[in-house]
Amino acid sequence: MSVDGAAPALLSWYDVHARALPWRAPPGAPPADPYRVWLSEIMLQQTTVAAVRPYFARFTERWPDVAALATADEGELMAAWAGLGYYARARNLLACARAVAKDHGGRFPDSEQGLRALPGIGRYTAAAVAAIAFGRRAVVVDGNVERVVARLFAVEEALPAARPRLHALADRLTPARRTGDFAQAMMDLGATICTPRQPACAICPLMTMCAGRATGDPARFPVKAPK
Ligand code: ADE
Repeated sequence: MSVDGAAPALLSWYDVHARALPWRAPPGAPPADPYRVWLSEIMLQQTTVAAVRPYFARFTERWPDVAALATADEGELMAAWAGLGYYARARNLLACARAVAKDHGGRFPDSEQGLRALPGIGRYTAAAVAAIAFGRRAVVVDGNVERVVARLFAVEEALPAARPRLHALADRLTPARRTGDFAQAMMDLGATICTPRQPACAICPLMTMCAGRATGDPARFPVKAPK
C-alpha cells in the first residue's frame, strides 16, 4: 500500500474539517502568534482541548504576550493555573517567559534547537512550535500522531519500543510545506476519527492507504507491550 498521497489527502481534509481553536490560524493562513502556540502546547500536555479552552482564554486576557507573562507574579500565575494539574508546567512557563524576555529580546527562537534550550520545552513542544508558529519542517509526534502512524503502517512492534520507528515513519509522511497544518491535521484526525476505540474509518481521508484498516482490526494498533 502506498502512502505517497497521505499528506495531500490529509491537508485537503484539514482545509474543510480543521477544528477552530483559539490558538490556531485557519488552514493555509500565515502562522499563529508563537506566544499563543507555545502557551497552548504547554497547556495541552496531558490535558484535553475542552479543559484547556477556559484557561487559555483567561491567561491570554491577563497576560497577552510573553513580555507580560515574564513580569507575572508567581503566586498569581500558580493560582491561575490551579485545576490544570502538573504544576511543574506552570513554574517552567514562567521560567521560559523570563528567558525569552531576558535572553531573546522578547521573541521566541524560531528553530527546534533554539526552542529546545528553553525551560519546559522538550522534543515534542519544540517541534510543534517550530512547525506551527514558524512554518519549519519539524516532525511532531504526540500520542494521537503515534496512533495514526501505527495504524497507517500496521506497525506490529509494541509501544514503548516502537517509538523510534513511529517517529521515523512520521518523518516519512511529513511534507516540506504546510508542516504546521499537517501536524495539526494529524492531531485532529487522531482526536476525532482515528480514535483509540472504534475509529471512524468510513469517513477517514486516509482510508484507502491504511494498512491497519486492511487488517480488519485497526483498533489493535498501536500494539501495547503486555504489562
Ligand atoms: N494537542 C496538542 N496540540 C494540539 C494542536 N495544536 N491541535 C490539536 N490538538 C493538539
